[in-house]
Amino acid sequence: MDTEPGTERDWSADFNDTFGEPESAVQARVWAEVLGDEYPAELAPYSYTTRSELAAIASELQVGTGDLLVDIGSGRGGPGLWVTARTGTDYLAVDISDTGLAEVGRRAEALDLGDRVRTASGSFESLPLGDGEAAAVMSIDALLFTPDKAAAARELARVLRPGGRLVVTTWDYHSQPAGRPPQVADHQPALTAAGFTVLTYDETPDWEHQMRELDRLMLEAVDELAAESDSDPAEVRAGLAEMDATIDTMLRRVLIVAERR
Ligand SMILES: C[S@@+](CC[C@H](N)C(=O)[O-])C[C@H]1O[C@@H](n2cnc3c(N)ncnc32)[C@H](O)[C@@H]1O
Repeated sequence: MDTEPGTERDWSADFNDTFGEPESAVQARVWAEVLGDEYPAELAPYSYTTRSELAAIASELQVGTGDLLVDIGSGRGGPGLWVTARTGTDYLAVDISDTGLAEVGRRAEALDLGDRVRTASGSFESLPLGDGEAAAVMSIDALLFTPDKAAAARELARVLRPGGRLVVTTWDYHSQPAGRPPQVADHQPALTAAGFTVLTYDETPDWEHQMRELDRLMLEAVDELAAESDSDPAEVRAGLAEMDATIDTMLRRVLIVAERR
């Protein structure tokens, strides 16, 4: 029997390595070059999110003081903590990467968010929350890493209170990218079947051009990137080539807003 695509890779180890290293100054420079003022450098995102997108996410979540906002695949937590500060909610960061979650804790302390912020190891497959415990859930560029989108949709529906909102950015794919978990061309059927009403399903403007430009400039800076992380330039180049091949399989990047029925 064939192994499921991308499921043999240990994503937890990969992201632990990534978030265990200092943020890449070269990557931040390239992102700022392509996204300009829209790049939220101070939040150290490990995603394609922008200032406008974060403002839209904060508004679409429809939460406020005392509500529990859960951020799944939080990474270092910069974007999620920004939304938390903006909305006044409590915040639970959930991730498979302990080094990412440790960074969330450091950032929350620096922002003086005190006991409004918690972190928990967990995944889309098994969320560390009781039924209906979350007032809202956000997730930026992380859903693609879970192998079964329908099962993830059911788990998201389980933890959200009725009327609670889910705001997600991810990608639809027209074909299966190599070395990645199984992907889908449209997330709406799985969300609807799980008990959500999909309110918004918007393609990110200019997503493909931006991703290609980011990859092209990162390739130009490959020696700098390798020196920065003390890696073999050939390995860094191979990683960027894999990313470029992944973009070929993508249909669109989407911002999804859905409400738990
Ligand atoms: C591209 S990063 C995005 C991080 C963060 N949302 C941001 O905007 O900076 C993807 C994140 O998803 C997490 N992740 C990967 N697989 C996951 C899973 N099955 N369940 C939950 N999180 C996962 C990774 O550890 C990583 O932090």
